[in-house]
Amino acid sequence: MDIAKEIEELTNQALQEIAALGELKALEGWRVLYLGKKSQLTGLLRGLAQLPVEERRAAGALTNELKRLLESSLEEKRAALQSAQVAALQEQGRLDVTLPGRPLLQGRLHLTTQVVRQICDIFKSLGFQVVEGPEVEWDYYNFEALNIPKDHPARDMWDTFWVDYTNEQGQRPMLLRTHTSPMQIRVMEKTSPPVRVVVPGKVYRYEATDATHESMFYQIEGLAVDKGITFADLKGCLFEFARRLYGPDRKARFRCDYFPFVEPGVEMAIDCFACTGAGCRLCSNTGWIEILGAGMVHPDVLRRVNYDPEVYTGFAFGLGVERIPILRYGIEDIRLFYSNDLRFLKQF
Ligand code: PHE
Repeated sequence: MDIAKEIEELTNQALQEIAALGELKALEGWRVLYLGKKSQLTGLLRGLAQLPVEERRAAGALTNELKRLLESSLEEKRAALQSAQVAALQEQGRLDVTLPGRPLLQGRLHLTTQVVRQICDIFKSLGFQVVEGPEVEWDYYNFEALNIPKDHPARDMWDTFWVDYTNEQGQRPMLLRTHTSPMQIRVMEKTSPPVRVVVPGKVYRYEATDATHESMFYQIEGLAVDKGITFADLKGCLFEFARRLYGPDRKARFRCDYFPFVEPGVEMAIDCFACTGAGCRLCSNTGWIEILGAGMVHPDVLRRVNYDPEVYTGFAFGLGVERIPILRYGIEDIRLFYSNDLRFLKQF
């Protein structure tokens, strides 16, 4: 066969096949077939030596041209397939090397944690120690020991989640603590006076949630028992706390309130920091914002933990934590605290 013809046919066939290839993997097969040791091209190159001298030059030139053409087609196709592959990956969004890196999310303390720490720091500086206690609690600590016997109407003050456990007497003695006050008993049972502790922690109430009610929230309990502690100590301590938390100009007020485990009992309010007493939405036009319940520890409570009420006296207080940032930042729904919405949490 005429070499020029053979080369032309081979060229057509090779170019047609390579054009049809769609994958990088298939390219190697094409290379072996058209440029490999056993290819038709290699055969042609070897055969050149056998040709008569007059034909050799022209045939040699054609064959070499064919070789260059096949080699350059291979490289072009390889480059085209590679960039197609990169483009396909980019299309899937997997690889855009020009995109800036994603910044690492920086963690932060939960708003409640920040406020709990702030309050505990104030009481620490006033000589209190921070302790914690169980959230699943006995009826005895949550109610009985705090002068709230079974069937006492005062239990209605706390809607309770009972743990589904019945003892031999057919009673349900276990619950989720409804306040941090059971820790007053636990601390006094374990230590002898003087006692000065604050107890931050979660408490639970069995109630329908809405913008102002959550079934879980935080309280901080305080307890100080020693010889000679008076109501003036309670007042001095809590007024100082209010000034440190809300600024030196805050006024504070006590009014009588009832809690079975203190006598006398009070509720403490500060003058509204938004309207300084004139009356606004924050303080529901009263000029005052209630921030905690407190009182002198009831003698029966002291007796129950073997503290002699003739020798020792003390005060206790309990405050709701979320109320503080709610008022400070104007947060309109308490449910935002624990629904894990980062758009809310990241603001603090
Ligand atoms: N435990 C009370 C409550 O949850 C608050 C309180 C604590 C009142 C200590 C007086 C003394 O409502």
